[in-house]
Amino acid sequence: MQYIKIEKQPQDGIGIIYLNRPEALNALNTELMEELSNQIVEWDYDSEIRCIVLTGSEKVFAAGADIKQMAGKGAIDMLMIDQFTKWDKIKRCKKPIIAGVSGFALGGGCELVMHCDMVVASETAQFGQPEIKIGVMPGAGGTQRLTRAIGKVRAMEMVLTGRFITAHEALQYGLINKVVPVEIYLQETLKLAKQVASMPPVAVRLAKEAVLKSFEMSLEEGLIFERKNFYLLFASEDQKEGMNAFIEKRQPNWKGK
Ligand code: CAA
Repeated sequence: MQYIKIEKQPQDGIGIIYLNRPEALNALNTELMEELSNQIVEWDYDSEIRCIVLTGSEKVFAAGADIKQMAGKGAIDMLMIDQFTKWDKIKRCKKPIIAGVSGFALGGGCELVMHCDMVVASETAQFGQPEIKIGVMPGAGGTQRLTRAIGKVRAMEMVLTGRFITAHEALQYGLINKVVPVEIYLQETLKLAKQVASMPPVAVRLAKEAVLKSFEMSLEEGLIFERKNFYLLFASEDQKEGMNAFIEKRQPNWKGK
């Protein structure tokens, strides 16, 4: 792989993907997105991986879609390439994905962060949707996911002025889970990932699915969906194990089935 690096830590059930295109501030060209989305699909079906971490470097998470790759394209080129279809593979991942963000997360970089389920940021992280400054607008979910995450007026300001927000603002807005010193952002991201990976995998999968449905269903439909997933978990060995371990005052031993 040319534009990402991967590291598997099966003892902790986690897989780490590093965006690795430093010469272009990890700009998300179609090749990088192909590698990234394929890796996520591979790990979604890898029983040794229970949580995925997506990160960049201390300097940059990702400075957006690759402007140089897109600059000369016409609307029909964009339609036929349909680059954002690859992003849907990330959206469909059934395992939790946690972003560890340091430095810039801009445009498609910010949208990639919002494809993840949780976000740990370093104090140097900056989030923004600056597409307006180059004559376009967000195209990978920025107008939709950002608005749902931080509300209309804040999203409007970011999308219409291109202003970057700091990690502390992002925390206050509810875009991210926590802000930590840059020296420990990856460590803290991995700590959170290991914690999630230590939970019963079937319950994690159905719980993630139910939380994400809340963005697409009415409250009534979502509550019915949640209830069915809850009942379904009573078919798992881990439900028996978890409840018996509680009653017997011991640690559960998850089987993942
Ligand atoms: N695409 C392609 N190349 C990029 C890039 C991008 N999004 N962002 C940075 N680069 C390249 C620069 O062209 C430069 O390359 P050269 O050395 O060959 O000139 C290199 O990365 C370093 O960048 P800078 O010299 O600009 O670094 P800086 O520290 O001065 O500035 C920055 C950093 C503020 C992030 C600035 O690079 C910048 O504004 N980048 C573009 C951000 C942006 O507009 N992102 C949105 C893209 S469109 C999009 O994402 C659509 C969507 O919805 C998916």
